[in-house]
Amino acid sequence: MVNLIIDDKQVTAPKDSTIYDAAKLNGIKIPILCHDKKLKPFGACRMCLVEVEQMKGRQIPACTTPITEGMIIRTATPEIIKARELVLELLLLNHPLDCPVCDKAGDCDLQNLTYDYKVDSNRFSDLKFQHEIDYNNPLIERDMNRCVLCGKCVRICDEIVSYGALTFIDRGIETKIGCEFEKKLDCEFCGSCISVCPVGSLLARPFKFKSRFWALTKHNSVCGYCGTGCNLTLGVKDNKVLTTVYDENQGFHKGQLCVRGRFGYQFINSDKRLTKPLIRKNGTLTESTWDEALELVAGRLKGGSAVAALATPRLTNEELVVFKKLLLDSVGTKNFDHAAGYAHAALTEGFARSFGTSASSASILDIQKSDLLLVIKTDSYETHPVVGFEVNMAVKNKGVKLSVLSDKRGKLSKLPHAQTLVHLPGSEVAVLNAIAKTIIDEKLVNTHAASVPGYAELEKALSAFSAEVVAAQCGLTAADIKKLATDYASAEKAMIIFPVGQAYTGHNADLASAVANLAILTGKYGKEGCGVLCLSEKNNSQGAVDMGFYAQNGGLNGLQILDACTDGTVKTLFVAGENPLTSYPNRSKVKKALEAVEFLIVTELFLTETAAMADVVLPVCSFAEKTGTFTSADRRVQYVKPAISKNSQLKTDFEVFSDLIVKLGGQSSSTPAVLFGEIAATTPGYTGMSHESLKSEGAFAAVSMKPAFVVPQATASVAAEAGKLALVTGSALYHSGTQSQYGEGPMHVCPEGYIELSRADASTYKIAENDLVTVSSAEGSMQLKAKVTPRMPVGVAFAPYHFTAAPINTIWSGAPVTLVSVAK
Ligand code: SF4
Ligand code: SF4
Ligand code: SF4
Ligand code: FES
Repeated sequence: MVNLIIDDKQVTAPKDSTIYDAAKLNGIKIPILCHDKKLKPFGACRMCLVEVEQMKGRQIPACTTPITEGMIIRTATPEIIKARELVLELLLLNHPLDCPVCDKAGDCDLQNLTYDYKVDSNRFSDLKFQHEIDYNNPLIERDMNRCVLCGKCVRICDEIVSYGALTFIDRGIETKIGCEFEKKLDCEFCGSCISVCPVGSLLARPFKFKSRFWALTKHNSVCGYCGTGCNLTLGVKDNKVLTTVYDENQGFHKGQLCVRGRFGYQFINSDKRLTKPLIRKNGTLTESTWDEALELVAGRLKGGSAVAALATPRLTNEELVVFKKLLLDSVGTKNFDHAAGYAHAALTEGFARSFGTSASSASILDIQKSDLLLVIKTDSYETHPVVGFEVNMAVKNKGVKLSVLSDKRGKLSKLPHAQTLVHLPGSEVAVLNAIAKTIIDEKLVNTHAASVPGYAELEKALSAFSAEVVAAQCGLTAADIKKLATDYASAEKAMIIFPVGQAYTGHNADLASAVANLAILTGKYGKEGCGVLCLSEKNNSQGAVDMGFYAQNGGLNGLQILDACTDGTVKTLFVAGENPLTSYPNRSKVKKALEAVEFLIVTELFLTETAAMADVVLPVCSFAEKTGTFTSADRRVQYVKPAISKNSQLKTDFEVFSDLIVKLGGQSSSTPAVLFGEIAATTPGYTGMSHESLKSEGAFAAVSMKPAFVVPQATASVAAEAGKLALVTGSALYHSGTQSQYGEGPMHVCPEGYIELSRADASTYKIAENDLVTVSSAEGSMQLKAKVTPRMPVGVAFAPYHFTAAPINTIWSGAPVTLVSVAK
């Protein structure tokens, strides 16, 4: 610690502090404008000027000056106050005084500082800026007339988001913030720049003229999209969610969100929301009452051995457990699942057999504490963008090494010194096995590994996976595989990250065991900065696994349930919040199953295409209208509470399932809080948690591990066929499952499905950007817009799976790789 005196007060502060940090730590306020604790010091605005006695009273910026032993600092002398007033006068010289119509008013640092320093006149005069306001973009309005050139937007886009969309352009008084060559803003639309802009230069357009900032009530919540589990604050007025409000102290991610979290909230108040139960009468879905609908549903469920259920992992833990109770205890069926029965197999089967637990052995917080990150498939950035921010910061700020093993390049491949091995699609497990074999051959195995059960069998099985053989099969070089093996094994701390989800059919139990083998062989688990992080797709995918909402004890899994609907074994299907017609593989098979089943019950927010086929549709609440808990991919259990009160015609899924339990003669679970008490008492790792204890910041559910080596079965990579491309499906950055289709923000940026091709393939097939292309596989044929990008390898195409209007499951059967032909 360093001793110093600030404003006549003897204080101490850690030795790497700046004067600003030391003052803040000791409760002394120094005004800032360009400084942000998440960003590197910049020293642009001079609002934080202070005097240091040892520097002969010179005025220096507190935010960039490191403290030294014995420093005597004054933060508020008359000269300092005058200097700050001068800074404000100069900033206001060309700044329009349009606070009455600026959305930032009430939340504007410049406005607040001007008020604090009572700058009600200006000794200087000049013309106001006349920059053209950029309204081109549907999500971000850019008004450079208000800009104070603090550079925060430029820095956050570079340092945290790693996109680098913004920069300082022009010189002197003409300097402004823009895109290179004054191009239109075309970026990730994460809104991070908006969140840090201290003035009204960068504004969220969907919020424009919706409410004054101070008229909003702010409600802390948890993002309802992906498994990162970001915290967010919803800005509410008149019982409507009007925006997300930035809170730099929120969550591990310090308030940063991706486009889905920031701009995807509009579905909550969408006028397309269902508001009344619907019952099919004479072939038409007709508005009904809850009594009539629930009676009908209860009648179908009674004595229901021919009943099965599919649930979305976007439901709360409490809802999933009460649904499970309804199915197991009241209906008497064990045929229930979430996410098609394969998308979570990495956890339920892979980690269960390799680590003895169905949870990741690393957390998102480990990313910045690691020395080397091995990311399987660059899509981790698309599926979990804020995890991507953590990877960006680890690589850029902490010098963490990054190796990417992927079937295409992506944003992560562009990070400094990233090593990307682009292998043939579908060959991940073979490559991981070859890495494991190299680790054994090169004697890089941890001393305890040989005593882990299954070592001898693994060593034997890996004999077929020499780097040379696998490299030839997977489109890599043996040297690349060996280097990756050596880098991983020799790093003191290393972590493996991979995404799972409905589009990632190949990311199954075998992939999970293949990565687990690497961690166990090298002893890189169970300690800081190490382990394997499975990025489960939806906001509560890990919770659904923890709550046991999947096929067990002989129950049918999601895909088997659909087969059973087709063959008539399942006669009543209860779908809670899932949209299998778009998101499950093999659309024609799903359609056949939904048509064949005698009775289809759907709880939903919207009349999805699956809901449109139902016999009963029950309108339910979004995450912003209910109480419960979500468990993130790294097993953070977080409490959510209503930000708005629900429409009186809606029920939560919890209420629907509880009402049905009562109708079937059972006892209702009184409240989500009471039910969570049961969860805490029976779920490994949740012991001691309660809604009350989780309210402030949630808690990690402990993971206990019992490692074992498992021989993963590697599928052969798909052989190229003349005239065909290997199509892989996945997530688009701007979307999550099918829900984001109802978020106006994501749909503004990415409104439709597409097929992404390499330049070489585009040229071979004479396809140009935005051409409408007919894509055909053995399953079917559809039209998609072409995107031509440098990241795709020759012979490989990519298409996201989110869109009802362009359902990729028309051509995708569920195989990790689908051979397709493309033609204009
Ligand atoms: S929205 Fe995100 S990616 Fe786009 S400029 Fe702002 S910080 Fe950069
Ligand atoms: S646009 Fe906002 S964040 Fe960017 S430099 Fe200007 S004032 Fe700072
Ligand atoms: S979608 Fe995922 S990464 Fe984006 S804000 Fe929500 S939880 Fe965070
Ligand atoms: S806050 Fe220190 S120079 Fe801007």
